[in-house]
Amino acid sequence: MVYTKIIVENSPALRGTVKISGAKNSVLPIIAASLLSYGEVFIDDVPELKDVNVMIELIKFLGAHCTFKNGKLKINVDIKDVEAPYELVKKMRASFLVMGPILAKLGHAKISLPGGCAIGTRPIDLHLKGFQTLGAQIDIGHGYVEARAKRLVGKKVYLDFPSVGATENIMMAAVFADGITTIENAAEEPEVVDLANFLNKMGANIKGAGTDTIRIEGVKELKGTEHTVIPDRIEAGTYMVAAAMTGGDVLIENVIVDHIKPIIAKLTECGIDVFEEGTGVRVKGKRNYKAVDVKTLPYPGFPTDMQAQMMAMMAGAKGTSVIIETVFENRFMHVDELKRMGADIKIEGRTAVVTGIDHLSGAEVKATDLRAGAALILAGLIAEGKTIINDVHHIDRGYVNIEEKLKNLGAIIYRVD
Ligand code: EPU
Repeated sequence: MVYTKIIVENSPALRGTVKISGAKNSVLPIIAASLLSYGEVFIDDVPELKDVNVMIELIKFLGAHCTFKNGKLKINVDIKDVEAPYELVKKMRASFLVMGPILAKLGHAKISLPGGCAIGTRPIDLHLKGFQTLGAQIDIGHGYVEARAKRLVGKKVYLDFPSVGATENIMMAAVFADGITTIENAAEEPEVVDLANFLNKMGANIKGAGTDTIRIEGVKELKGTEHTVIPDRIEAGTYMVAAAMTGGDVLIENVIVDHIKPIIAKLTECGIDVFEEGTGVRVKGKRNYKAVDVKTLPYPGFPTDMQAQMMAMMAGAKGTSVIIETVFENRFMHVDELKRMGADIKIEGRTAVVTGIDHLSGAEVKATDLRAGAALILAGLIAEGKTIINDVHHIDRGYVNIEEKLKNLGAIIYRVD
């Protein structure tokens, strides 16, 4: 077995331009939603990531024909199976997003329960409550969830928490339902809006995506379409933080400024200059940035997927920062790794108190999940000496060519086996 590590050395201020790829968390539900189509689907700006390959593998298993080259994905669907097995679902929790489409199209879906996750228990109760409200019978047993419904019927679904996945899964399940489905307290994330736009292009009738109330009027059929995925706001945010904390000057190209407003606001509060420039933002960092408090919240609040990266930045800030994670109950796995690099962090429940220090020190650490891995790379850029990051497969799930993109900006980063 080959173990790959990423090595990051203390790097100069980053300079240059980096282009942001299509959003992982948009394209995963969109690929799942392609199962609903009766015609050919063409998706552009698909990021070449491990998670994307897992989703493609899964829909192929279910009967789709896919060709994926240079960020362009062509899908023709002829669903043959209603069952998504454990071997495929265990690789990625987002695999559960095929349940809504299969149930809507075939009236029967059997999906393996997704299982544990490093960042929290991440139940699927809200997805299931939604399917049940629309009339599906749910059975759980032998590690599988089975949903059956001769015909789904539009109803009001109130989500106790604005879950991104539950909103997406219920929206997909409802596209062929009789009458009108209303999702209340729906997630407002841009990825939910991208999915709704994609479904509408195929002929669905969805209104209100991007607000807390989404209305889906059932239609008879969906046709093929073409769609370009929105830019990845979390990848953008990660490079913005890299530019900021190294005191760099980087143009981050291909962003939707509205989607990264909470990140721009936090960096500005730290004393970093961020300017809009064409289809991008320019970040002019400084080494002596201020500590700020961060509280993660559903969109349009500060994204939980940027919490670890922001913590890495705060580890080297001037002053003390209080970081509160409200979305996931266990998303502080990176703290022990950052502490190995000398960071001064104390945790109490869902709150971390980070006291900035002048010099982090390179150490051997491990990426416990995708964003934790990104945070360690960021810390490594300003740490003295070498940071050796293990378990980098997590990072490859969600960042396209991260070492290449950083290297092009002047970072000292490479991979070894
Ligand atoms: N939750 C429930 N019941 C449910 C569903 C969710 O209690 O039925 C809880 C979760 O346990 C969690 C909270 O609700 O505490 C938020 O979960 P949500 O369902 O919103 O998250 P998700 O759909 O599983 C997506 C992203 C995550 C991102 C979250 C929050 C995808 C494929 N994943 O997950 O992305 O952190 O929304 O914004 O879209 C990442 O990219 O690193 C990542 C983890």
